[in-house]
Amino acid sequence: MTRIIALPGDGIGPEIMAAARELLDRIDADFEIEERLVGGVSIDATGSPLTDEVLEDCRNADAVLLAAVGGPKWDTTDPDAPRPEQGLLGLRKGLGLYANLRPVRPSPALLDASPLKRDRIEGTDLLVVRELTGGVYFGDRGRRDDSAYDTTVYSVGEIERIAEVGFRFARERVTSVDKANILETSRLWREVVEGVAKRHPDKQLDHLLVDNAAMQLVSRPSSFDVILTENMFGDILSDEAAMLTGSIGMLPSASVGEPGTPGLFEPVHGSAPDIAGTGRANPLAMFGSVAMMLRYGLGRQDEAAAVESAVDRALADGLRTADLGGDANLEDATRAVLSNL
Ligand code: IPM
Ligand code: MG
Repeated sequence: MTRIIALPGDGIGPEIMAAARELLDRIDADFEIEERLVGGVSIDATGSPLTDEVLEDCRNADAVLLAAVGGPKWDTTDPDAPRPEQGLLGLRKGLGLYANLRPVRPSPALLDASPLKRDRIEGTDLLVVRELTGGVYFGDRGRRDDSAYDTTVYSVGEIERIAEVGFRFARERVTSVDKANILETSRLWREVVEGVAKRHPDKQLDHLLVDNAAMQLVSRPSSFDVILTENMFGDILSDEAAMLTGSIGMLPSASVGEPGTPGLFEPVHGSAPDIAGTGRANPLAMFGSVAMMLRYGLGRQDEAAAVESAVDRALADGLRTADLGGDANLEDATRAVLSNL
């Protein structure tokens, strides 16, 4: 029996999670799926964005599937108020999910849906390997008198283990992205990544400063293989890279830790509160995340590939949700993918 914890969360989360559950039921009626609260809905119900019980249930699952957290209802600048995003960070940290994999591979049918020219994006097949449990996301922060501070800390061990993941996934080249002309953490990052590269003589390593990487990601996306970077830079660059696929509604992700710990699988997009409840959300990043869960979380490669090709075929048949300039709604998109499965 495969046990999956489903975390619908906020905004469009419950709608796209329902679609994902339909897909999962179709793949294997024996998946045991249990829903739990995280994010804003958990704050409303319990006062906390992630309770110890939910974290423990996730620890004991085979995989965790998350839709989205956050929304204007819980937006606040009060440093003492609970925030939905803390639920997600608590899961990442609590499960030790230090490696975030964000593949960017525009579906052939969508090459003209990107705001970038077809000839620039054609052939793009890159993977952002983002460090997920360190850096400024988890460093000491606070307010003092009339100022505020956030700190970035990285240890050698943290950099080494994520760099290993980067080299393992690279076909031939790792592009390590940092800001070594300014940040001490980036200079350590560069040193450590150089060291890890020596253990992978069959793979090339180059370094890019993050501002330059942001530019090259749109000017020559197809020449990237693995982009290896720290937590904050990976957050920013992966949203940018999403537009290569036509919409942020297309990008899935996997967050993994040491072997034996359950991975967390979630779309890169957020809770889209502006369209929540309208039935117009694009479920394709969620379906892509289901595919990543099957592949990296449950070792079911064939089913993962079947989901991905069903999505590609639905797009080739003309499926376009609103974010891709079409008028298909969530229900249409779900039918289109299921009928191609
Ligand atoms: C992401 C999101 C999260 C992040 C937020 C919701 C905390 O933007 O997964 O990219 O910043 O990591
Ligand atoms: Mg982000």
